[in-house]
Amino acid sequence: MGVEVSVEGLTKSFGSQKIWEDVTFTLPEGEVSALLGPSGTGKSVFLKSLIGLLRPEQGKIIIDGTDILQCTAKELYEIRKLFGVLFQDGALFGSMDLFDNVAFPLREHTKKSESEIRDIVMEKLELTGLTGAEGKLPGEISGGMRKRAGLARALVLDPEIILVDEPDSGLDPVRTTYLAQLLIDINAQIDATILIVTHNINLARTVPDNLGMLYRKKLVMFGPREVLLTSEEPAVRQFLRGSKLGPIGMSEEKDDAQMREEMKQAEQGHNDGSPGDDELKGVPPQMQPTPGSPERKGEIRREKRVAEMMDDLPVEAQKAIREEWASRGHGNGRSTAPAAATATAGATTSGDTASTAGVDDHYGSDEN
Ligand SMILES: Nc1ncnc2c1ncn2[C@@H]1O[C@H](COP(=O)(O)OP(=O)(O)OP(=O)(O)O)[C@@H](O)[C@H]1O
Ligand SMILES: [Mg+2]
Repeated sequence: MGVEVSVEGLTKSFGSQKIWEDVTFTLPEGEVSALLGPSGTGKSVFLKSLIGLLRPEQGKIIIDGTDILQCTAKELYEIRKLFGVLFQDGALFGSMDLFDNVAFPLREHTKKSESEIRDIVMEKLELTGLTGAEGKLPGEISGGMRKRAGLARALVLDPEIILVDEPDSGLDPVRTTYLAQLLIDINAQIDATILIVTHNINLARTVPDNLGMLYRKKLVMFGPREVLLTSEEPAVRQFLRGSKLGPIGMSEEKDDAQMREEMKQAEQGHNDGSPGDDELKGVPPQMQPTPGSPERKGEIRREKRVAEMMDDLPVEAQKAIREEWASRGHGNGRSTAPAAATATAGATTSGDTASTAGVDDHYGSDEN
């Protein structure tokens, strides 16, 4: 059973460099969430903070009732056992073969016999498509294989919280889909709370229950995926389209002159290669567990949770949620009555569950 991870007013700096500030949100228990954000906005720093490898100077991280920024080293050690983490670079031990790498957490944290360990390791290697590679060193395999080995290792303790940092980087599109499916199936099987950091827009659109984005040192949005996917916020739209047009530039934010120049180029017909807005409009159906898997408990809880907050969500998000529920025959009877006048719904989404901060607030305006 997954546990809720609740972050309040979290701020992290390195020396005088502020990475992000006042980050507040909750990863609901047993749901799948994803975090987007331009390179360098501190997504990896955030994941490392959640497991206590880095120490934010302000705020709370409450896991299973314990604030890991206040607790003892012993308590933190216990809390860490709840986690399975796939780091961005795989973080395998270079001198150990894949078998020993994947077996490491079991040998470190459990008293299992070597034959029990062998069964678990081989099962996870099979799950991640690495059967036969167990004797190889990390330096002898491809980047994508290293990534999958890192995931196998993250799964051996049947974690209640799974953090994965760019699981798709270095993977081909087919393997990426298999890996996403694996995460959804694991969620269905063990009800783990999952947070995926990704730049893969397709994965972000189809896999998680909840989506957030770090931008300009803030968590600009976090909530049901429909909120972000229907957002008209310029940085969000630009990011989802992978377009040059918008406030995000190659390095820092771009200045107005550059933005005007790029708009002019686009108007004159320059093609920046990004998909048309129509292609990425709306909310695609969510990836489902492989047939034969148990029903996702997190999904059932989410439906109830989202129904309760429905009236506070932006109108477009409400519409997308209702459409998805209708198409699956869900949501009937469980949801609260829809707001009669949806044009007034949404207002601002500054509550705990779907927060926006630091950017122009487009919610609640009639232009949506
Ligand atoms: N241990 C550290 N000491 C000092 N600065 C650090 C440390 N770790 C990260 N940073 C800085 O924090 C910022 C955020 O880094 P982070 O790796 O979290 O970005 P990211 O959002 O994961 O980017 P990407 O999408 O490229 O992986 C960067 O400016 C980085 O240089
Ligand atoms: Mg990173």
